[in-house]
Amino acid sequence: MKNQLATRDFINGLPKAELHLHLEGTLEPELKLALAQKNGVDIGQTTIAEVQASYNFNSLASFLAVYYPAMDVLQTEADFYQLAMAYLTKAHQENIRYTELFFDPQAHMARGIAFETVVNGFHRACVDAHAFNVDAHLIMCFLRDLSAESARQLLETAKPYQAKILGIGLDSDEHHNPPLKFLREYGEAVAQGYRITMHADIDQVDSIQHIQQALEIIRVERLDHGTNIVENPDLVDWVAQLKIGLTSCPLSNRLVADDMKDQEVLNLIDHDVKVSINSDDPAYFGGYINDNYEAIANANQLTIDQVVTFAKNSFETAWISDVQKATYLTEIDEYVENYLKD
Ligand code: HPA
Ligand code: ZN
Repeated sequence: MKNQLATRDFINGLPKAELHLHLEGTLEPELKLALAQKNGVDIGQTTIAEVQASYNFNSLASFLAVYYPAMDVLQTEADFYQLAMAYLTKAHQENIRYTELFFDPQAHMARGIAFETVVNGFHRACVDAHAFNVDAHLIMCFLRDLSAESARQLLETAKPYQAKILGIGLDSDEHHNPPLKFLREYGEAVAQGYRITMHADIDQVDSIQHIQQALEIIRVERLDHGTNIVENPDLVDWVAQLKIGLTSCPLSNRLVADDMKDQEVLNLIDHDVKVSINSDDPAYFGGYINDNYEAIANANQLTIDQVVTFAKNSFETAWISDVQKATYLTEIDEYVENYLKD
């Protein structure tokens, strides 16, 4: 019966796409310490307990203050490859069939790492993941607390590598960094053939104005987080009609905003908005994608049907062809049918 409660076992096997995942946010304490030692980088901690004790954030800004310094341990192309491959191996175990992965080149270039070192390491892992049937692509983010000029330079630097990058995103500190700051750079990105999305983080100052700029002026294809949209019924209608995806991340919300924003997610689903469930920065926020599905399912006693809607939304709002979407949706239907038979 499709209205039976969705268990962890059901969630584990469900084919799904992950669309909101920062590769740098998958740096687990063990790998962080191993790379620090290999590369001779002093990160101020030498044990897993010490690393974990440093993860005491309660806002986007306090999270970012831990997130960026940790990147120092990533030095060589092999390090970037190893980081991405560790995530993709995990993604395979979680039955992620397709994923679009954020990365932050400016954060690495600012500390002297070449763009090509970053993109080549991450991209090679995406290629190698095909061996275990995970289809992975890269979304290059502009850091919104840096200048528009810096984002423009990044687009220039990336030109020779464009075939390795599917889309453009916008992340980092949203406070006083509205979408319109990057209007020209987004226009240029679209002209160059990139797909476009951007973060609309939870409960920001001017959240609704930022979301309006993103949707109505820049015309992004997805919004990352974006659940503050419930405050404006006209915008909810807009995203529902245009089938714009919202990539929600319950465990990340719970840490930075003290609330999974599950009521907002369920309200949006009731209004036919294509919300998906994702893990954001799983090494920091306490769980990978199936933990995120389980958290929202358990807190709200979600049924198999409701959880399937999240997984279908993830493929429907992925940057793949209609034929690919249909194939993945059939895979989900077959999984559910088999699951209910047993
Ligand atoms: N928001 C903004 N910047 C980020 C995030 C996020 O969720 N994760 C990593 N960088
Ligand atoms: Zn994010």
